[in-house]
Amino acid sequence: MAEVLRLMFIGDVMGQPGQMMFAKWVPRLKEKHKIDAIIVNGENAAKNGKGLKLKDIEFLKQNGADVITSGNHIWYNNEIYSYLNEKTDLLRPENYPSDCPGKGYTLIQVKNYEVAIVNIQGRSFLRDQLSCPFKTTQSLLTFLETRTKFVFVDFHAEATAEKQAFAFFMDGKVTGVFGTHTHVQTADERILPNGTCYITDLGFCGALNSIIGMEKDSVIQKFLTQMPFRFKVEKNSPFILSGIWVEVCVSTAKPLKIVRINVIDEEFPGAIG
Ligand SMILES: [Fe+2]
Ligand SMILES: [Fe+2]
Repeated sequence: MAEVLRLMFIGDVMGQPGQMMFAKWVPRLKEKHKIDAIIVNGENAAKNGKGLKLKDIEFLKQNGADVITSGNHIWYNNEIYSYLNEKTDLLRPENYPSDCPGKGYTLIQVKNYEVAIVNIQGRSFLRDQLSCPFKTTQSLLTFLETRTKFVFVDFHAEATAEKQAFAFFMDGKVTGVFGTHTHVQTADERILPNGTCYITDLGFCGALNSIIGMEKDSVIQKFLTQMPFRFKVEKNSPFILSGIWVEVCVSTAKPLKIVRINVIDEEFPGAIG
């Protein structure tokens, strides 16, 4: 049988509920599906859901994360800025200005192969004024292609159309494009015509009965009144963990399968204060 690589990508980890699901389920899924590398979006892993701190990076790594990607929430805690500059396992979107700490790609060793992980952010309905994600990735690929034929992109974006456009733009040029940021998993995982595997959004890890991970009432009040409200991470609900795993043929560098992960865990409600 041809040699394969298996990688698992987990959607945005949201606060303590997300971390608990990651710690409980990622090791089990890794063993069950014989996963070789784990990539997780950690932009909401802090206890309050805003960015992540050094202890959150450590927690995700201790529980199996090889690379932590991020997005627009990466900048909340400046204690991680020097980590972003010094280490290669925490990414910020590549298309932020080059003066920002960190970078948006890394090369990791998976079995005997180098694999590139790229983090890029969309521009539609997001506030940050970033370089074109399409052209930024295109020029980054001219470098990455000299190092590896395995390239996976976390495309952190709001708009479905921008994610689909990016995926078709990249179809055949990278191994996989996986959306993050909306915190709701889409059911459109598939291999595109030229061989790139794709899902519009991986989903998230956190409280199921929430509004993208936050307590419902304050979010509803914000929509009703248009006034600012302080949102708190929801904890009193079953928890969910979402993502995908992919299998890639080593000799062709093409994905053979993309499988959705969607675990709902009823054990957790009330388990944390
Ligand atoms: Fe997020
Ligand atoms: Fe985001």
